[in-house]
Amino acid sequence: MRVLVTGGAGYIGSATVQALLAKGHDVEILDNFSTGHRKALADVPLHEGTLLDDSFVSSVFANPFDAVIHFAAFSLVGESVTDPLKYYRNNVAGSLNLIKSVADGGAKRFVFSSTAAVYGEPDKMPIVESTPTVPVNPYGRTKLAIEYCLGDAASAVGFPAVALRYFNAAGAVPGLGEDHEPETHLIPRLLRSLVDENVSFKIFGNDYDTPDGTCIRDYIHIADLAVAHIKAIEAVDEIGLTQINLGTGDGQSVQEIVECASRITGREISPAITSRRAGDPPRLVAANDKAKSILGWIPKKSDLDSIITDAWNWHSNNPDGYNDRG
Ligand SMILES: NC(=O)c1ccc[n+]([C@@H]2O[C@H](COP(=O)([O-])OP(=O)(O)OC[C@H]3O[C@@H](n4cnc5c(N)ncnc54)[C@H](O)[C@@H]3O)[C@@H](O)[C@H]2O)c1
Repeated sequence: MRVLVTGGAGYIGSATVQALLAKGHDVEILDNFSTGHRKALADVPLHEGTLLDDSFVSSVFANPFDAVIHFAAFSLVGESVTDPLKYYRNNVAGSLNLIKSVADGGAKRFVFSSTAAVYGEPDKMPIVESTPTVPVNPYGRTKLAIEYCLGDAASAVGFPAVALRYFNAAGAVPGLGEDHEPETHLIPRLLRSLVDENVSFKIFGNDYDTPDGTCIRDYIHIADLAVAHIKAIEAVDEIGLTQINLGTGDGQSVQEIVECASRITGREISPAITSRRAGDPPRLVAANDKAKSILGWIPKKSDLDSIITDAWNWHSNNPDGYNDRG
């Protein structure tokens, strides 16, 4: 298939481009490098520009695509609280331009990067796709708004579209890893603190109602996420319009991650424990039965050892990340 990947210079997008190319797809990337990296770019045609420029976006579709995979977005939860309009503008308005071009005939299929943040803080675990969507921050609300917009446009026009709701993306693939600034994700922060003395790592609360008192999250290897996107573009014609969780169905605590990282890196890690962060539920875990049954997707690399081993390989070989910030 001829596939347009928005955000293909970013963390999950670049890993998915790598996997698409390995499967023989023709890939083009749309990115403005606002958070992505030129060094993460595959050697494929690049459309450099922002989704906010509607004439640029429609020009990208002059020659229609078989599928669009839409990763491009801002995704820092805290920043979305302090600067919500930045998030509504980039994520929602940018996606509108893209969806409009697809609805005008620019592509046959649409796969969207959504997030577990659309669920907010449900009490009942594991989270199924029918769990009510009550996002608790602007980031999650922008993603839910895009889901609605995509769903309405897809049913009006009649193109198949899938929203993949990822839980916590983690790990690395050959030559490509996680390099966000600021880095707010647990695993890269922990591993970067081992190679960069300027990066601190602490545990936010160890008095939760979990077996070891630290929060539990569902970590999913980016190699598995990449496979799920390929399965989604291949299956979306039959699936139609739907939302699918991408997680392992299992969860790991912060303490388990610290212990695993300590074993794999051979370093002693004894982080400071500080008070809880506001809005951190004790446990967020996906039910992944729908992904298994509809996509035939089974995570193969998302055990904690593989995630930490691959992420450590990236961080220890790239202590400054891609080192391409101005
Ligand atoms: N990382 C996670 O754990 C996680 C979890 C759930 C959902 N997601 C979603 O997955 C997607 C990818 O996440 P990531 O961690 O790879 O993010 P990332 O920041 O590494 O990548 C995003 C990419 O999109 C590009 N981009 C952003 N706005 C753009 C615009 N207006 N025009 C053109 N390009 C633009 C950036 O330059 C970057 O290359 C995002 O939509 C995010 O919300 C991520």
